[in-house]
Amino acid sequence: MIPVLRKALPAPAKRTIHRTLDWLGSRSVQVFSAHRWLATLYYCVFSRRFDREHLAVLKGRAAYYRALRAMERTSPLLRRNVHRLEKGLIMRPRRNVFAEVFVLETVRCYNRAKNRPGYSPDELRWARDVLDEYFSVVEDTPAISKARKEYSEGPGAEQSDGNEVRTFKPYPMSECPASPVSFDQLATLFVRRRSVRWYRKRPVPDDLIQKAVNAASLAPSACNRQPFRFVVANEPAMAIKIAECAGGTTGFAHQLPAVIVVVGDLSAYPKDRDRHLIYIDASLASMQLMLAAETLGLSTCPINWPDVDLAEENLQRILKLPGHERVVMLISIGYGDPDSSVAYSQKKKDSLIMQGFPKK
Ligand SMILES: Cc1cc2nc3c(=O)[nH]c(=O)nc-3n(C[C@H](O)[C@H](O)[C@H](O)COP(=O)(O)O)c2cc1C
Repeated sequence: MIPVLRKALPAPAKRTIHRTLDWLGSRSVQVFSAHRWLATLYYCVFSRRFDREHLAVLKGRAAYYRALRAMERTSPLLRRNVHRLEKGLIMRPRRNVFAEVFVLETVRCYNRAKNRPGYSPDELRWARDVLDEYFSVVEDTPAISKARKEYSEGPGAEQSDGNEVRTFKPYPMSECPASPVSFDQLATLFVRRRSVRWYRKRPVPDDLIQKAVNAASLAPSACNRQPFRFVVANEPAMAIKIAECAGGTTGFAHQLPAVIVVVGDLSAYPKDRDRHLIYIDASLASMQLMLAAETLGLSTCPINWPDVDLAEENLQRILKLPGHERVVMLISIGYGDPDSSVAYSQKKKDSLIMQGFPKK
């Protein structure tokens, strides 16, 4: 019906309809934003724009519980709990008894993970070193001694190979390397990085992308769960196919040498209150990725991934993404064309972007 009308109506009539719909839209949001229950009504009855997000969050929660049983390669629960143990270990003053509520859960999770052939050895080692440290400092209570017993009786205690440079457990801040980068050098890197949309026809070495991705993974993430991955299309045909799914690449998609899809994983959370973390964590890492790429001679452009049904369906199909994984953004990457231009993109600063409090 709508496509037929679109064809049949003359342009002035279409403009009038658009203007009227825009006006109605702007009036209705004034009304429905007045109260929380009106907003609920709006998104239940008049707009289904959040449907896909609701479904993905629920699918994520369901996948979380399935993953607890499967324990393939990595576990958000193990990562979160080991992180919580580390926070307890570095607490000042450190308590003699802590983590009673979740240490048994952590040990059981660790013991299950150890049985899985493809499980991440680094994650296991981190868990082992932190659990070793934990049990060496805490006093026994009934809950802790039960966990200690299950830990010591767990499947084949891992042995250090003697070549380990350091243990994966808390260490003094004074052991963090001194930064060789001055503020001015860093500021220059920030000014150097621009959204570059035009690229040379030069292949991008896979190992440079891998290097940038590994640097990106050093970014902070909530409870160190890192609920995201980077899907790399480093070949023009696939890169262009992916880029064309996004509206924001109109006019320049056809010459992108490589595209990275930043994918958030909602199966990292049992609770829907944490549903925004995939976007926050993935974006922090993406920024590091773009800056790292710059230091490797590569240019990038982040590309918007708005919540648009059809585009989402297309890309989910191309990438074969499960329902609990959501695209956060795309990033084009390649050797920037020095003959192209970049936008000036004036930035906000000072009081436009920072607010302080009067000092007492
Ligand atoms: C989340 C996000 C989405 C973006 N989406 C697009 C896009 O779809 N198309 C595009 O050409 N640029 C896109 N950009 C690039 C912005 O236009 C650019 O970052 C901004 O204008 C500032 O310019 P600069 O990156 O050169 O500092 C996006 C940037 C971000 C952070």
